[in-house]
Formats: sequence, structure tokens, C-alpha cells
Amino acid sequence: MSKPDILQVGPYPDWDQIPLEDAFNMHKYFEAPDASAFLQSVGNSIRGIATRGELGANRAMIEACPNLEVVSVYGVGYDAVDLEACREKGIRVTNTPDVLTNDVADLGVAMMLVQSRGMIGAETWVRDGSWQAKGLYPLKSRVWGKRAGVLGLGRIGFEVAKRLAGFDLEIAYSDITAKDYAPDWTFIADPVELAKRSDFLFVTLAASAQTRHIVNREVIEAVGPDGMIINISRASNIDEAALLDALENKNLGAAALDVFEGEPALNPRFLELDNVLLQPHHASGTVETRKAMGKLVRDNLKAHFAGEDLLTPVL
Ligand code: 8YV
Repeated sequence: MSKPDILQVGPYPDWDQIPLEDAFNMHKYFEAPDASAFLQSVGNSIRGIATRGELGANRAMIEACPNLEVVSVYGVGYDAVDLEACREKGIRVTNTPDVLTNDVADLGVAMMLVQSRGMIGAETWVRDGSWQAKGLYPLKSRVWGKRAGVLGLGRIGFEVAKRLAGFDLEIAYSDITAKDYAPDWTFIADPVELAKRSDFLFVTLAASAQTRHIVNREVIEAVGPDGMIINISRASNIDEAALLDALENKNLGAAALDVFEGEPALNPRFLELDNVLLQPHHASGTVETRKAMGKLVRDNLKAHFAGEDLLTPVL
């Protein structure tokens, strides 16, 4: 039986690439010098798309593949996949939930600790001789005993909150409704009210058109000059221009960000700031988790082409 043709939107590590190539004819979109000419030449043969969370598959790509059956996303977030286009054409969509939850939560909490305790500057203080030349490193802010707000108490938000409880923070959260699996944490429906009572505001909600800029100027300013915003979801959940303004004029104390509009080419204003921790969208970036994500991408594709139930369907 001939192997199904798959459009591959971005690169994967060899431990995924090799088994993908064993099972499918992979067409590397990201290596094509002329992406639209490439799509035109292979489009008719394509039955599946293998993509990554941040790359997704837009309508133009989907429509360039008239025989497309399935889109398999390496990532839990599928906001960059045009679900409307997939629905219209009966195209199935899968993602990689659960396997990455704990790593993403770990990085979010680590970012809070690193930024509050000034650990990046402290490392420089040791390496550049400041410790010897200038003495003690400036004092930083305590984390334990403070108030954390978790915006979006889904799988990742829940694991963040669980970890924060271990660090003795007081926890509140916003979501569409109060969660019966979070009886010990305070539910505050309104993000502005949540932000007002938060020293640390974690943004952990799945991005969609409805959540775009849910963290707006008012929410950002409600976190305030002594507060911090930590984003391990998608850049679109925050009004980035308002965030930059607030960081520049100190209406917001600090931010710790793993995601950016237009990443990896982030707004150069970020680079001028000393009150923001910048991370290269790697919250799920451990070998163990990425291997599990890659396997799930393949297993979903294989299940689809074997006529079996999808393991982790979105659509
Ligand atoms: C990945 C992600 O960084 O899960 C997601 O939605 O954005 C991440 O886990 C990304 O998909 C890997 O390219």
C-alpha cells in the first residue's frame, strides 16, 4: 500500500522525522524556497498536514490541499489552525494535550521564581565580577505568602495552581465557570477583579478569537506596579502594546513571557526592558515531553489512515 502524503509545516527532531518518513511521504513546506509554488505542486497529493502549535495551518494552506483529511498538531494549542475551514471541509484535527501539561506548568512557576528573585541578574553579578567588586547583590522580592491569580483553570492552569499552593501562595482563578475540582481556590469571574488581587497573574488559557487581548490595559494596570504577569499560553491573549507601555512606564512591575506576537521576531521594545524575563517559547521543551508529543502526532496520523479512532481529536 502506498504511503499517505503529508505536508510538514515545520521541522521536528530526528527521533520524530525518521519514523514519520518511514510511515508517510513527508513534504517539507518549511524548506521550500517558494512556499506557494510548492503548495501548488504538491497540494493535490496531500492527505494530511503535520504542523506545530505556533505554526498551525491557515485557510490558504488548507484550500491548497483539496484532498486533505487530517491536520495533526504538535502542541496543545490549535489556535493557529483555521478550524472553520476544517469544519467546512470535514477535515479532522488532532493535538497533543496532557503529555506537555506538567512541563509547561513547571516553566511558568520557574519563570515567576527566576524573575522575582532576580536570578538572571544574579548570575551576571557573579560572572562579571560585580560580587567581588561591588559586594552584595540587590535585594529582591519574596514569592511565598503572596497572591497568585490563574487566568484559565484548564489542565495547565490547574497544574500551575497546584504548584503555587506548594509554594504557599494564596490562589484565585478566573474561568468561564467555577470548577468543582478546585474547591480550595477562590473563583473570581472577572479578569480585572482577579488581576486586582494578584501579585502574580498567570495567563494559562487556550487562545481563541474570544480570548484575544483578554489581558487588556485595564487588567495589566490592575496587576499594578508591584505585580508580575507570567504568560505561558499565547501572545494573543495579551494586548502586547499595552503590556509594553505598562512595563516601560512601570504601571506594571514585571513580566515573564514565553510567547510573543510575531515570534521569533519579537518587538525590539522588549529588549530595552530590565523588568521582563524573555523565554523562547519552550515551555514544553523537554526531551521527554517533545518525544511524547511527536509520538502522539504520528499515532494520530496512523490511526486516521488506518480508519481507527483518533487518540486526541479536536475536530
Ligand atoms: C510547542 C505549544 O512549543 O503546545 C503548544 O501549544 O505551543 C508548544 O507546546 C510548539 O507547538 C512546538 O513547536
